[in-house]
Amino acid sequence: MAESMKGLKRTHRCTELSSANIGSEVTVMGWVQKRRNLGALIFVDLRDRTGLLQILFDENVVGKENFDKAYSIRNEFVIAVTGEVAKRSGAVNPNLKTGEIEIIAKNLRILSEAETPPFPIEEGINTKEDIRLKYRCLDLRRPDLQKNIMMKSRVMTLTRAFLANEGFLEIETPMLTKSTPEGARDYLVPSRVHPGNFYALPQSPQLFKQMLMCSGYDRYMQIARCFRDEDLRADRQPEFTQIDMELSFVDQEDVMDVNERLLAYLFKEILDVDVALPIQRMTWQEAMDRFGSDKPDLRFGIELKDLSDLVKDSEFGVFANAIADGGSVRAICVPGQGGMARKKLDALVDFAKGYGAKGLSYVALHEDGSKKASFAKFTNDEELEKIANAVEAKAGDLILIAADRNKIVYNVLGALRIEMAEQLGLLDKSDYKFLWVTDFPQFEWSDEENRYMAMHHPFTMPNEEDLDLLETEPGKVRAVAYDIVLNGCEIGGGSVRIHQSDIQSRMFRALGIDDEQANEKFGFLLDAFKYGVPPHAGLAYGLDRLVMLMAKCDSIRDVIAFPKNKDATCLLTNAPDVVDEKQLKELSIKTDIEVDEQ
Ligand code: AMO
Repeated sequence: MAESMKGLKRTHRCTELSSANIGSEVTVMGWVQKRRNLGALIFVDLRDRTGLLQILFDENVVGKENFDKAYSIRNEFVIAVTGEVAKRSGAVNPNLKTGEIEIIAKNLRILSEAETPPFPIEEGINTKEDIRLKYRCLDLRRPDLQKNIMMKSRVMTLTRAFLANEGFLEIETPMLTKSTPEGARDYLVPSRVHPGNFYALPQSPQLFKQMLMCSGYDRYMQIARCFRDEDLRADRQPEFTQIDMELSFVDQEDVMDVNERLLAYLFKEILDVDVALPIQRMTWQEAMDRFGSDKPDLRFGIELKDLSDLVKDSEFGVFANAIADGGSVRAICVPGQGGMARKKLDALVDFAKGYGAKGLSYVALHEDGSKKASFAKFTNDEELEKIANAVEAKAGDLILIAADRNKIVYNVLGALRIEMAEQLGLLDKSDYKFLWVTDFPQFEWSDEENRYMAMHHPFTMPNEEDLDLLETEPGKVRAVAYDIVLNGCEIGGGSVRIHQSDIQSRMFRALGIDDEQANEKFGFLLDAFKYGVPPHAGLAYGLDRLVMLMAKCDSIRDVIAFPKNKDATCLLTNAPDVVDEKQLKELSIKTDIEVDEQ
């Protein structure tokens, strides 16, 4: 039967006790990790969010009634124990923070009983994620998740303190708002009082933070929840959190400076890792050419090499045609993989096809100096030798070659580079390689929309040197936009904003947005700009991604207390769910879509 804690006060969390407390009387409370009976002695490992503490129930000390109670204890019962801190009677456990001590219980209360949980409450279990998400309350008791959630809390606390010290104000922005231009689909919320009208949940606080700059707040920060209805991946959730900031009277250098110091501070305080400053920088073009990615992982080499000049007259039509069609032929050299089995090579070809390639060519360099090419019929020793030299391949290496439109070549080789590094075990999670990627293209052509789209967002300042190209060659305009990349993951991004209305109008025109549409969508910001706007710039981190990497996790779901699964469902609450007819009626919503009522 569950007892109350009336008259009891917890004196310490489990691992707040150590040899220094030996002899003192304490009261501890928590969950039972494990109980062992040894005749007249019962040992219990008590757990709270700080860790484990051993409790010893000796019938002669604790009395028969309490001893019997201790005998009934099962895993996950919640108990309160009053007793004396003593040196461990058995062997010291060097793996435990409290391994030198135990509590000799004098009193026990069972505060709550517990059924057997559906999976063990332990570190590193292999239970299916769907089960873990359904019983998230139990999953969140496991030490690995608790460490992540506590680390995230620390990152938020330290970030707030650091930025406050740098003159930032924390200001909230609305959740019920209008669509923001971050490029994903919106989550909509119907309005009851305005039938047929919808709020959009913010994809980011972008427009509001820019207005706060217009209002003179100078430096804004917010740990802001954002909502994006997009395809989910290991590093994407439909709702996620940004560390968002905006600064007035600054340029790109100022934003980078404060953020480099913030990152160095967080990594030192939380992981005792020294981030070498300044953080390396690379233009977008260089990142694509060398790594096939706008978020290169710099923990290893295997860089791309352009073979186009070398093979433009090749007898191998795939190469020659790709170049003739305006594309390119590029390669990576994978060290020591020249002997890769045919089956594995075929799997790499399929992998490349998954990234849009029509195929993948390769040259295997055998230890005896011979070379075997997948396109052997259409090549000769001389050409293969040239290719091998161009990628600096040695005997025993494997050369993977993609020939296609540039976008596909970059995608395929960028992904293969990571895949090979994974297979070769080159990705050390405790090696943190930061990189600023700068000079992003201002626009990206969308085949779907048949127009240029803003690569970052429509308020990003074009590079002044490229302003003349806005109307003539928009594809060549570089933006004053920057991403901060860590180990191949985009952990943040930002830009200098346009604050001159003539440039903003030209931007909208280049994006195919006419005055009327601009006014309808962003009129409130454009209006604000009419009354005195400071030059401003900003950046937002994906907090979940940052913590995921700091905690060495593979998925952001492991650093979010209540995440959605890959179908954007919350398995704990079963959201999204059907609602009452009455609720729909109030919101003037009619749906004729049949839903399964499970
Ligand atoms: P951006 O769209 O690049 O910029 O977002 C900033 C950062 O947020 C993270 N992020 C995500 N994390 C988890 N799940 C998602 N679905 C998701 N989408 C984005 C990424 C990304 O780098 N308003 C601008 C910032 C600015 O210009 O100041 C913005 O939102 O780590």
